[in-house]
Amino acid sequence: MTEQLTNTMDKLVSLCKRRGFIYQSSEIYGGINSCYDYGPMGVELKKNIKNLWWKSMVYERDDIEGLDASILMHPRVWEASGHVEGFTDPLVDCKKCKQRFRADQIDTTQGCPNCGGELTEPRMFNLMFKTFMGPVEDDANIVYLRPETAQGIYVNFHNVRESSRRKLPFGIAQIGKAFRNEITPGNFIFRMREFEQMEMQYFVSPGSDEEWFEYWKEERIKWYSRLGIRSEKLRFHQHQEDELAHYAKKAFDIEFEFPFGWNEIEGIHNRTDYDLRRHQEYSRKNLLYFDPETKERYIPYVIETSTGVDRLLLTTLANAYEEEEERVVLRFAPAVAPMKAAVFPLVKKDGMPEVARNIVNGLRKYFRVFYDESGAIGRRYRRQDEIGTPYCFTVDSQTLEDGTVTVRERDTMAQERISQDRVLEYLMERVLI
Ligand code: GAP
Repeated sequence: MTEQLTNTMDKLVSLCKRRGFIYQSSEIYGGINSCYDYGPMGVELKKNIKNLWWKSMVYERDDIEGLDASILMHPRVWEASGHVEGFTDPLVDCKKCKQRFRADQIDTTQGCPNCGGELTEPRMFNLMFKTFMGPVEDDANIVYLRPETAQGIYVNFHNVRESSRRKLPFGIAQIGKAFRNEITPGNFIFRMREFEQMEMQYFVSPGSDEEWFEYWKEERIKWYSRLGIRSEKLRFHQHQEDELAHYAKKAFDIEFEFPFGWNEIEGIHNRTDYDLRRHQEYSRKNLLYFDPETKERYIPYVIETSTGVDRLLLTTLANAYEEEEERVVLRFAPAVAPMKAAVFPLVKKDGMPEVARNIVNGLRKYFRVFYDESGAIGRRYRRQDEIGTPYCFTVDSQTLEDGTVTVRERDTMAQERISQDRVLEYLMERVLI
């Protein structure tokens, strides 16, 4: 990584803390590795990203239903899914400095990357967090924190299909927490042990899976323009045979160019009938689908799109961050910007604060907006630029004469005057998802 890029990441981390996007978890106790808390701006950004995804998956289509399954599931689910046996990474320890590494991410022939010391033989380490259900801590009561949300969808496939009277092809979308005891978390919120996923499983007839796979690959990369991500910062990476997860026949990652290099932000997988077939085997329940058109019974194939909320939040931040001569600006797409607008009285007198507060109160029902009357107007603009607020409205002496306010646009810094009665409409046209 070049010094300049490391610098960008350091600056982003520091901005996130300063402006209330992201804090280290349990900071007053020295923090806990790879866990983070979202502050007032972070929580808005996160909600907006999730809403945008949910809207495009569930509201704007007529072939996808929503679901919210529990994090703790029957332990047999994870045997059936293959996670108990196969959700492992190879772990090596340095005998000298005791640091741990994923053997597949380093050149083990060179010894410890940290101190050159001798490494242990790789051993397989299961990434699932375990806990106990109920007061007795024995093997019979082990449950897992789910490492992916997808299994909650598979075990509910027939529930959702029946209650919503669906025929294939159709999908089920879910947003929820997932947990992985990663050996090497890092790069801020890129790889965490507790994170949130947005997953959609699309159930199709066998034989139509290849076509649907191509369809979802194209749909998903297109979606990133709605998130405001520059297309030149995105690319596909196809998984080679040795990279494929145990459930996948074919997989493409969508990668983003972070300051620390190209990395996965979303996976699109052809999971075939693997999961449903295994659940049928382990649960001994009939999970066949009766196709009313062909009159055949079969286990549906699944095309999965899976992305991480936290990782997309980092993507939007890295994509939006820009330093100019006089300001730092986050050029968020208005749909995801935490604060949609700020309203300022030019001075704290002559009735300007009252007019400005009136405007803010009219907007609050619809958007997260900010009222600010402190400091020079230029400073107030800069503060909003740093959190990516797309529009600032200023009430000045002309407002008192003709009822117009100044709108200042974040990216171009261009200003125009509009009637104060049009502020709501102006924002609705520009910032609604
Ligand atoms: N259900 C399939 C699945 O979980 P994955 O490729 O392992 O596939 C999908 O994960 C997405 O979840 C990733 O592209 C990433 O956005 C997010 N993700 C996975 N592990 C993560 C971690 N440790 N921290 C943050 N996000 C993670």
